[in-house]
Amino acid sequence: MLKKKLSILLVFVALVGITKIMAQNARIKIDLDRTVGEIDEKLYGNFVEHLGRCVYGGIYEEGSALSDERGFRKDVLEAVKDLNVSITRYPGGNFVSNYHWKDGIGPKDQRPARMELAWNRLESNRFGTNEFMEYALEMGTEPYFSVNMGTGTIEEAQQWVEYCNVAEGPYYAELRKQHGYNDPWNIIYWSLGNEMDGFWQMGHLNAEDYAKKSREAAKLMKLTSPEIKLVAAGSSNYRPDADPNEWNATILHELRDVVDYLALHMYVGNPSDNYYNYLSTPLVLEERTQVVKGLIAREMENADRGDRDPIYIAWDEYNSWYRARDAETMSGTRALEEHYNLEDALVIAGFLNAFIRNADIVKMANMAQLDNVIAPIFTNEEGLFIQTIYYPLQLFAKNAHGTALDLFVESETYNTDEFFVGLGESTTQQTDVPYLDVSASVDGDEIILNVVNRNKDKAIVTDIISQSGNFIGNIEVLEVNGPTVKAKNDFDKHEVKTVAKEAIEAKGNVLTYSFPAHSFTQLKAKVKH
Ligand code: AHR
Repeated sequence: MLKKKLSILLVFVALVGITKIMAQNARIKIDLDRTVGEIDEKLYGNFVEHLGRCVYGGIYEEGSALSDERGFRKDVLEAVKDLNVSITRYPGGNFVSNYHWKDGIGPKDQRPARMELAWNRLESNRFGTNEFMEYALEMGTEPYFSVNMGTGTIEEAQQWVEYCNVAEGPYYAELRKQHGYNDPWNIIYWSLGNEMDGFWQMGHLNAEDYAKKSREAAKLMKLTSPEIKLVAAGSSNYRPDADPNEWNATILHELRDVVDYLALHMYVGNPSDNYYNYLSTPLVLEERTQVVKGLIAREMENADRGDRDPIYIAWDEYNSWYRARDAETMSGTRALEEHYNLEDALVIAGFLNAFIRNADIVKMANMAQLDNVIAPIFTNEEGLFIQTIYYPLQLFAKNAHGTALDLFVESETYNTDEFFVGLGESTTQQTDVPYLDVSASVDGDEIILNVVNRNKDKAIVTDIISQSGNFIGNIEVLEVNGPTVKAKNDFDKHEVKTVAKEAIEAKGNVLTYSFPAHSFTQLKAKVKH
């Protein structure tokens, strides 16, 4: 009898324990004294490449009733402006490795049409340096140019800097003036080629040769315009037979006194339709960031940089890209037209969280690309629709500024199986992936909390605890979600978007909120401290 009673008691105790564990809320602790670094505005950048319909038929459509007299699509420009793009990379991408900038200046009707070999198009060159700069001014974005280190020469790179940045005197500065642009454009950010470690790149080089050519190009470019900042092409090749760390280590060693950023690229996807694997991919970006951070730190110890900042990381291409990847969808005027769904938007929110969590070293990031080509804005001849991935980027760009915070986050976790990170890339397996993916920033008295709930089926009740005083006023809640993780937008439907939810009234220093399944939520709070 006693034995029976004892076992009933034990079962009862165990049940209470399990219920307690199950009932325990996830926790996020915010301590304003625990900071990561300043969030660089350049984290909210984008990218315009002469590829598919990104330029022609996208931002620029001469003769369209939707365009202004310069050929800029007004509807696209409006959507672009609303994205608060801080910096825009131009003109490629793989395109730049067969681009000769002089083809794209002067009277449009006299510009040569060229075979475009990266994406198999005819390049009319009717949109070039000055058209892009006029567009950038309209966008209110910082320009970021990439020079041709594939088929281009170091002299050509120098001449482009002269055309853009020198006020008057030498030939190319005077040529710009003849073209109607009296004042120099003063372009500060220049990258030394694109993905030069990739066998697919025209003029692909090994690390030593790339470093050598870049150093000389940099010398000429800086002598022409000393205030420019240079970005070296870091690894983009994570295929099983490549050695991205070796490439990065060599470039950093050789160019440690010369460049200001190392560019990294990453594209992920969900080809095997495994939601949980896919949602963990931002953690791979974070791992790669940490590895490169270590390589940079090693080189900075013996660098001779005067009073310049250390080298930072520029994730100057990132996105989800896996559907438009076969021979047909990778070429011509309709190349890379991905149609995004909610899970893609959650991955993008995860990338942005990762940038904020690493704000001390990641100082630039550019979604690839701005419109039509793996992009947040999608057009046809009659209008456009806003893709799912637009919304998290817009929320971050509008609200997540100031100082990144180092949070304590506790939530249930899951493990993935082994999967390919991006098409053709090596595999990974992620363990202890938290269902809640979180970042935060503080700007003045405003705290922004960015939370992805990766759980596909369950809301996660979370205690958000301020270690730095009580929450005050109302907490604004903005949510990106949709009916299912496969929900998409299109010309005739808008299933995924940002919705302002009912504000939460602050009480004390703990705020309990239930993050809905498969959602991205941004909370705007204030604390009294
Ligand atoms: O953004 C599309 C392409 O992806 C870019 O041209 C290239 O740099 C990368 O491989």
